Amino acid sequence: MKDFIALKNIHKVYGKGENAFEALKGVSLRINKGEFVALMGPSGSGKSSLANILGTLDVGSRGEYSFCGVDVFGLSQNQRALLRRNYIGFIFQGFNLLARTTALENVELPLMYKGIKKKQREQIALESLELVGLKNWAHHTSAKLSGGQQQRVAIARAIASKPLFLLADEPTGNLDTKRSVEIMEILQSLNSDLGITILMVTHEPDMAQYASRELHFLDGKLLSDSSRQ
Ligand SMILES: Nc1ncnc2c1ncn2[C@@H]1O[C@H](COP(=O)(O)OP(=O)(O)O)[C@@H](O)[C@H]1O
Ligand SMILES: [Mg+2]
Repeated sequence: MKDFIALKNIHKVYGKGENAFEALKGVSLRINKGEFVALMGPSGSGKSSLANILGTLDVGSRGEYSFCGVDVFGLSQNQRALLRRNYIGFIFQGFNLLARTTALENVELPLMYKGIKKKQREQIALESLELVGLKNWAHHTSAKLSGGQQQRVAIARAIASKPLFLLADEPTGNLDTKRSVEIMEILQSLNSDLGITILMVTHEPDMAQYASRELHFLDGKLLSDSSRQ
């Protein structure tokens, strides 16, 4: 069987000439379907650079990335966008919701881009909000929601399009411990109940505990890779 995700010797250089900076220095990594991986490491170690490449938002300067057998760096920008829209979900530290728009509409938005009709869109969005415990908040604008609730809306939006792979870059970076734990429990159940493969960037060891595998980054290189039973 083909690997779900395979990275081979990924390098990432930002800038040119004298200003060139190598943020990733040869990263090789496989992720199997159904894994929940935490990517840890100090600020500036290249975590977001790697997450952006995994999410097909960016490409490596060198190396190979295979996603479900597809050679990602060999795709055009439009093909990558299509792959992303159909198979990959994102959650960021800043929730990136439209403030004056309701929770429901925020979750519906990516479904609109997929050309799904209004009625079905609403139904899927409501189901997604229910999964994160916010069904009763569907018609509130996101500006009226707490940070923890906003992040849950962002999760609902990310899973509405039924991604195979969910990328979360410091998803609890702006939240207190209680809200962070709520987010981790949701991620864990998306992984175990829906089988969504997750890669979560975090620098908080307490949050990494929720994952089944921990990668440690330092200075653009993978330092350690350990799985939990
Ligand atoms: N677009 C960019 N242009 C130039 N340098 C960048 C860019 N993005 C990231 N970097 C640099 O690459 C290094 C790794 O960044 P990043 O992947 O964001 O690390 P992390 O997420 O672990 O904090 C940092 O030194 C950062 O300044
Ligand atoms: Mg980062």
